[in-house]
Amino acid sequence: MTTQNSTRRDFIKTGATALGGAALLAGGVHAAGGDEIRVGIIGCGGRGSGAAHDVLRSSKGVRIVALGDAFEDRAKGAKARIEGLGKEKEVTDNGNTVDVGDRVFVGLDAYKKVIASDVNYIILATPPGFRPLHIEAAINAGKHLFTEKPVGVDGPGIRKVLAAYEKAKEKKLCVAAGTQRRHQEGYIETMKRIHGGEIGELVGGQCYWMQGILWSVPRQKGWTDLQAQMRNWYNYVWLCGDHIVEQHVHNIDVMNWAFQTHPEKAISMGFRTRTNKDYGHIYDFFATDYYYPNGAQTLSMCRQISDCANSISERVVGTKGTAQVNSYTVNGKRVAARDRVSPYVQEHTDLINAIRGGTYLNELKNVAESTLTAIMARMSAYSGKEIKWADALNSTESLMPENLAWDMQLPEPPLAVPGPKARN
Ligand SMILES: NC(=O)c1ccc[n+]([C@@H]2O[C@H](COP(=O)([O-])OP(=O)(O)OC[C@H]3O[C@@H](n4cnc5c(N)ncnc54)[C@H](O)[C@@H]3O)[C@@H](O)[C@H]2O)c1
Repeated sequence: MTTQNSTRRDFIKTGATALGGAALLAGGVHAAGGDEIRVGIIGCGGRGSGAAHDVLRSSKGVRIVALGDAFEDRAKGAKARIEGLGKEKEVTDNGNTVDVGDRVFVGLDAYKKVIASDVNYIILATPPGFRPLHIEAAINAGKHLFTEKPVGVDGPGIRKVLAAYEKAKEKKLCVAAGTQRRHQEGYIETMKRIHGGEIGELVGGQCYWMQGILWSVPRQKGWTDLQAQMRNWYNYVWLCGDHIVEQHVHNIDVMNWAFQTHPEKAISMGFRTRTNKDYGHIYDFFATDYYYPNGAQTLSMCRQISDCANSISERVVGTKGTAQVNSYTVNGKRVAARDRVSPYVQEHTDLINAIRGGTYLNELKNVAESTLTAIMARMSAYSGKEIKWADALNSTESLMPENLAWDMQLPEPPLAVPGPKARN
């Protein structure tokens, strides 16, 4: 696996440079229909709105033109919120605008309507269960893409994303992923040291995302099964992938970035003690041994139980030393100062620079591999078995229910329990 990030660091203060880059289109990839970045956002909740904020601050020549959400109240709320963002000084100073008019689409097919609008830059921020379908549609339609992480919840979905990666390459479409640490100055500098050999050959490491319990949305009277599960998406594996996939993927991605490859297999354990049905059927915790090539082995732990020890971090161990990646420390010495620019903004700056003729950027393979790394561990914890990379990649277990319709019957899925069904 190669690192697919641009090595260029064009920061927001160089917005003028980004526009200047528009003059360099010859031979480079460029935004279809001119240099204006016309953004369509699919999934207009917290992150969709956050990404709107970030893209409007990233470069000049950005206009948000279409929004789509499964639910009308979310879409309408987002329209008002994002139009408000368009009036903020940092945005108007950049000459960027929000001009969605009546291009606010609602429903399970809203993504098709956003993609069919006159947009050249799609932002995907729905629950991850929908991501493979939406990535495939955006790339097939020839749009540049910013996709939130994770990019799927199962093997069939990841295969679709890897196919889209190849197609995007063929079509010279640029893609950035919401694994924003790869666009974060301090992480980039620390990785440079690791890849430069300052801690020797990598032999192990640890990564964690341990925090308190997260959110749930209790079912309301009148909601159909599908509405209830989609409103409460974090707690259903077909939508979220479980929190090892949905959230811990950030730290797992850092480990894959450090090792410049993905693990060959995982042995994981986890379970759930919470009984509140509002929290669906996700686990409370996972603890995983990952086995990388050359015998390197890493530990990954993620937990969502309140009042316990917390940590969100990554550490890599080599034959000559260690790096605490999240605190930018190599062999006990800090190698980068505080980040000057939000990585959430920088990821859009990098993507737009690539679209306008900079170094080609396509992060789909990296994020697909990191997502599958997390899925592999979940499969191991749910089954109690060792799961190899090929088992996860070639898995035929598709978690997305077939023929989604608002009035369909969608029973509460059972909790995954490893081992024999009947035991003492
Ligand atoms: N990179 C990061 O640091 C970061 C931070 C937060 C969230 N995220 C990611 O962003 C994604 C969204 O998270 P969020 O916190 O914004 O959730 P959210 O619930 O606030 O927003 C999701 C939105 O998607 C809509 N939606 C659901 N299914 C849809 C569909 N099929 N078509 C169109 N819209 C649909 C929902 O109605 C909702 O408005 C997740 O994948 C999450 O992992 C990333």
